[in-house]
This record gives sequence, C-alpha cells and structure tokens, in this order.
Amino acid sequence: MKESFPTILTLGRQPSMGIAELESLYGAENVKPYGTEATFLNIESSKVNFARLGGSTRLCKVLAELPAASWSAARDFLAKTIPDHEKYVPEGKLTIGVSVIGIKVDTKDIERCLLGAKKAVKALGRSVRIVPNKTAELNAAQVIHNNLTSSNGWELVIISNGATAFLAQTVFIQDIEGYAARDQARPYRDARVGMLPPKLAQTIINLAVSKINDHSSRLSVLGSRQQPTTLPTEATQNLEPRTQNLVLLDPFCGTGVLLQEASLMGFDAYGTDLEPRMVEYSIGNMHWIREKFDVAGETVRIELGDATEHKWQQPIDLLASETYLGQAYASLPPQEQLQKNIRYVDSLHRKFLFNLQKQVKKGTRICLAVPAWYTKSGFLHLPVLDHLQELGYNRVKFVHVSKDDLIYHRENQIVGRELVVLVKD
Ligand SMILES: C[S@@+](CC[C@H](N)C(=O)[O-])C[C@H]1O[C@@H](n2cnc3c(N)ncnc32)[C@H](O)[C@@H]1O
Repeated sequence: MKESFPTILTLGRQPSMGIAELESLYGAENVKPYGTEATFLNIESSKVNFARLGGSTRLCKVLAELPAASWSAARDFLAKTIPDHEKYVPEGKLTIGVSVIGIKVDTKDIERCLLGAKKAVKALGRSVRIVPNKTAELNAAQVIHNNLTSSNGWELVIISNGATAFLAQTVFIQDIEGYAARDQARPYRDARVGMLPPKLAQTIINLAVSKINDHSSRLSVLGSRQQPTTLPTEATQNLEPRTQNLVLLDPFCGTGVLLQEASLMGFDAYGTDLEPRMVEYSIGNMHWIREKFDVAGETVRIELGDATEHKWQQPIDLLASETYLGQAYASLPPQEQLQKNIRYVDSLHRKFLFNLQKQVKKGTRICLAVPAWYTKSGFLHLPVLDHLQELGYNRVKFVHVSKDDLIYHRENQIVGRELVVLVKD
C-alpha cells in the first residue's frame, strides 16, 4: 500500500469514537482507519491540536512503510534506522522506547532488538538508554515519565493492520495526568448525576463541531498545549475549526464537566440545569477551572432552566450535552420497570428537542449523549431517535463508522451513552 498521509493516531478503548471525532473535525476524506486500533490523518502532526482529542491516545509522525508486516521486517528496519538517525537528536543521552501494535511479538524479542541498537549507537560514541517493555505497547505513563516525546527521546511505533506495516514516531501522548486533575480534583462532584469522563466530554464537543459546517469557514490559530520537540519546527498554525467567540450550550450541564472542556477549547460556555444545586456546582467548578488552567474561552454563563421549556439567551452556535440518563441500574431491572423508565426519559427528550427546535438556527450542529440500555438481546435505544425528522432534525451519518458503534459503554454497565449527532433542519 502506498500511504501518503503524514500522521497516524492510536485510538482509545472504543476506536470508533476517536474516528468519528477526527472525521467531524477534519472531514472524512482526511481520515483513513488503519487496522482495529489506529487511523491515518492527512494533517501534519504539528498542525493538530492533540490536547482537544478525547478519542485518541497518541499522535505519531509516519516515518516509513516497512517492507513486510512481520516482526522480523520491523526488527531489521529498527536495527538499521536507529543508528542511522541518532545524529539528528541533540547532544546528550538518547532515550529510546518501542511500541509494537498489530504484530505478535514477545517483549523479550523487542528487548533483544533494542539492546543490539543500543550497542550500535554506543559504538558511535553516544550514550543511550532503552525503556523496557512490560507489554508490546508502552503505556502513556511510560512514554511520559521517560520523556519519550522530548527532544532527546524517541518512541518508535511499529504499527500494522495485518497486511502492511509502518514505522512512526510519537509526537504527542495523551495527557493522563491533566485528565485526572480535571476530573478528580474538581471541587464539586456528584456521583448521583454520573461522572462524565473529561475525555468523553471532549469527544462529545468535537462531534458537535464540523469542519464542513465551520460556521464562518474561517480557520482559527490555536497553539497546541504540548509542542512537538523531536521534530523540526514546522509552521505552528493549526487547522482547527473555529472555537473563539462561539457559544456552546449544554442544557443538562450537571456539575459542568462538558462546560469545563468547552472553555478549555476556547468556546464561550453556556450551561443550564433544572436543579439549583447543579447550577451552583457548575459555577463553582468553572471558577476553579479558570483559576487552575489556561482557559481560552472568554465568557461563561450558567443559569437555572428546565430544558423542556426554558428560553435560552441567544446566540447559540452549537450544542453539546450529556442529557438526563434516567434511573441508574446495577443490574437489569424487571422489564416493566425498565420500560417505565424508558418512557419517562423518552418523553423528556421529546419535549426538550421540541423546545430546542424553535430556538436554534437551521444548520446548528448538536451532539447529545443520550441513554441506551444494554440487554441480552442488544441495546435498547431511546424511541424518539426514530422520530428526529418529524421534530426538525437530521441525524448525521459518518463515513467511517456506523452509528451503532457510537455507544460509550463499559462491561457490566446497563446504561450506556449513545452519541447522537444532529443538524437542525
Ligand atoms: C447525566 S447528568 C449530566 C451530567 C453532566 N454532564 C456533568 O458533567 O455533571 C444530567 C443532568 O440533567 C439534569 N436534568 C434532569 N432533567 C432536566 C431538565 N428537564 N432540564 C434540565 N436539566 C435536567 C439533572 O439535574 C442532571 O444534572
């Protein structure tokens, strides 16, 4: 395969979510899924604002296609490439780690290969350290703590779809500490309304943004939070859809996780919730995020409001929300009880969508994480999803993923979150 896309990303636990997010931000033509855990992207790595991507775990620059999709081909390539390229790294100790994805290999074989490369580099008069593999793929903590994305580090990634294989170099790795800080250190949390992980909040927001539907077709210049240092500095301009001066509404804002992430991305955050306590929590959390983090969004507005009848302030440029998920279940309840809950939640969503439809402009893009219930015979969807057109919305179809793959769900969970992307008709 001749592959000319310059960038490859490894994806999170539910790869379809990461693919849909990239498709939304950059257009389907610039995304090419590769194997089960990765995707090519036709955007230079330095122009991607990786910090906003909730569905990807690392972003790599593609270096070369390997002659074959086998560990022996990868090993021979590494043995030659590593000593050939050490001179491009600034003076000082070089730290090397290798991740192998999609090719079966014993960690001992990776170690043997790296020890050989270490010897060859040492013979050139340079000190080098290798990161031991506990598994074929290094985890984010290993990449971060060994500074493998710094100017004196390399994480070399061998990645294969079974038929072809590529060598790539990690430029960004997901900021696991940042995500944990934004999640667990928030002053106001409430397990009862559920805990939306910040990464999932980012994906929901990114699905509500569209390159194609970019409100002004203007491109914003956003600095990436983590700068690539191992590669020559290219133009730092970023081809991100615009966020500045756009109002993002979350009508079920709860404790404000989604608003926090929207603010960090540069949106003006606007949240409403039925419960006064949630409004207070969101306000408290938004103060906190502005104190502790580099928030790009200019304004925040949070008020009390029942989403089924509230009149929101204009303008509203886009909507992203984890809506009301209904009863939480530890195990599947009796059929009648479940149906009663579904009927209630469905009616609330129907009223909300009817109320919203009168208040947003044609073309407004909306991403809602709504409940889907996991049963032995598959997921039960919110019935109103079959009536979106009557309510004045078109559901967005993705080119590379099916809508059925966009349900965020953990094993043993009854209530999953179905990500539904709509455009107001
Ligand atoms: C699943 S939680 C959203 C959690 C939120 N994403 C967060 O980060 O905390 C759903 C929220 O919807 C609110 N809610 C329920 N019914 C509502 C209604 N009719 N209008 C507005 N908010 C409502 C609840 O108070 C709750 O805070």
